Amino acid sequence: MTAKNKIILGIESSCDDTSAAILIDNQIRANIIANQAIHEAFGGVVPELASRAHQENIIVVVDRALKEAKVALSDLDAIAFTRGPGLMGSLTVGTSFAKALALALKIPLIGVHHMKAHILAHFIDDASDCKPPFPFLCLTVSGGHTQIVQINSPLDMQVLGSTIDDAAGEAFDKAAKMLGLPYPGGPLIDQLAKEGNPAAFSFAKPKIPALNFSFSGLKTSILYTLQAAEKQDVNFKEKHLNDLCASIQNSIVSILMDKLEKAVQLTGIKNVAIAGGVSANSELRARLIDRKRKGWLVSIPKMSYCTDNAAMIAMAGSFYLAAGQTVGQNTAADPRLKW
Ligand code: KG4
Ligand code: ZN
Repeated sequence: MTAKNKIILGIESSCDDTSAAILIDNQIRANIIANQAIHEAFGGVVPELASRAHQENIIVVVDRALKEAKVALSDLDAIAFTRGPGLMGSLTVGTSFAKALALALKIPLIGVHHMKAHILAHFIDDASDCKPPFPFLCLTVSGGHTQIVQINSPLDMQVLGSTIDDAAGEAFDKAAKMLGLPYPGGPLIDQLAKEGNPAAFSFAKPKIPALNFSFSGLKTSILYTLQAAEKQDVNFKEKHLNDLCASIQNSIVSILMDKLEKAVQLTGIKNVAIAGGVSANSELRARLIDRKRKGWLVSIPKMSYCTDNAAMIAMAGSFYLAAGQTVGQNTAADPRLKW
């Protein structure tokens, strides 16, 4: 159940995107995102710089979201914000802003779990052609997390497996860095892989029990392959860039799909969704669509709801508000927020 006739402002600032969105009855009226290009030069997110940029951007994105949605501050019924997990400094900017505004407007405040919000983004009206029916499995894959979650209802989620080291997005980004590509490397690998041969190179496969993941062995295997090849030819990376990207993407996506197949077999649940930044990956999306032939019901969110956005925070907020799950002014950002 979602909050009917309520106007909810969503705020997201867990990592390097500052975002504000307005949701009314499961419909997104505005979803403004300010990306922080500053991190590109450093090959990854610099927490201190991210917090500063959030401070500069937060008022701007909220203001733009209100204007685009044609909503006044006084019209707002509740504010939902990302409480965690994420970077402490980044989360604190969004959390403090949301608390101050809720206090000034005397409206309810809703603390949202970032990864749960990625999953609940599926329930935004225009998120996909297929709303996942309960119970469903969701592969949540982002820069910081990789999990298989069983969702029994919007408020009842159970993690069936997670990564024991790197996240899938991190694996993409670290591989891209080894190839000399800028941060974030995931979308670039996806793009270059389109012109490459996924079978050109093979890398070590993890042997991790149950539904857990590991990507650190793959990272080492890519590094050793590159080091050995560059001893023979210093221009190896440049000459084989597309094939390397296609092979790396093939390895990461295969690891994800193998575990998802296993989860379907173990639970007998064939309603499958993906969420998080890596769910924008074209190969992962294609392989999931292919599973429809095996009788899976597949839900893939539209691109703008895959990577970090405040629309998903507002959507999650609507479920929590309807259930009366609000937080007080004593709430704090939590970089390691539990499920
Ligand atoms: O969910 P998200 O926007 O932020 C976190 O919560 O971490 O995910 C960001 C991650 C980055 O690692 C980025 O490289 C990856 O998602 N990503 C992709 C693609 N688009 C974003 N990875 C592979 N292929 C893509 N098309
Ligand atoms: Zn995310």
